[in-house]
Amino acid sequence: MSNQETSKSVFLNVNGVSYPVTIDGGRNLLSVLRGEIGLTGTKEGCDDCECGACMVLVDGQPVNSCSYLAAQTQGREITTIEGVAPSPEEMDPLQTNILEAGGVQCGFCTPGMILSARALLERTPHPSEEEVRIGLSGNLCRCTGYARIVEAVQRTAAGAKTATGDTGQ
Ligand code: FES
Ligand code: FES
Repeated sequence: MSNQETSKSVFLNVNGVSYPVTIDGGRNLLSVLRGEIGLTGTKEGCDDCECGACMVLVDGQPVNSCSYLAAQTQGREITTIEGVAPSPEEMDPLQTNILEAGGVQCGFCTPGMILSARALLERTPHPSEEEVRIGLSGNLCRCTGYARIVEAVQRTAAGAKTATGDTGQ
């Protein structure tokens, strides 16, 4: 009841596009991204701030969108997995490296992993293995055992060739 009384129309800036949405005061960002805007690359896992599947960037900072109020993102820049690649024909190096390293199995964790990794590399361009593991510690993967994902982040940091499929090293 209290949520509906604060319902209002706003614009959310997602991946450089301004989307008109109507949000209730208590509605989380994940539900707006998937249900209102139609960007379903962001996944819903635990819905309790535990798994990182719903990770997006807000002004470059990783947040669990299941536990982040959509209303808090007005006037801020939201980045989802759909906004990571430079063009429809070209993947981001993190995307290419995680595929080539075998860091994707079911893929459910992958969008959140990539956004956490992107934020990590912004903060720490050349992280150690431990720093990568800490940087991804909010993202759970039930399939891969993490080693290949960590390797992919370090390959990206090292500037391995990616767009052409050349692994670089
Ligand atoms: Fe948000 Fe799991 S769905 S942290
Ligand atoms: Fe399946 Fe990570 S690849 S959860």
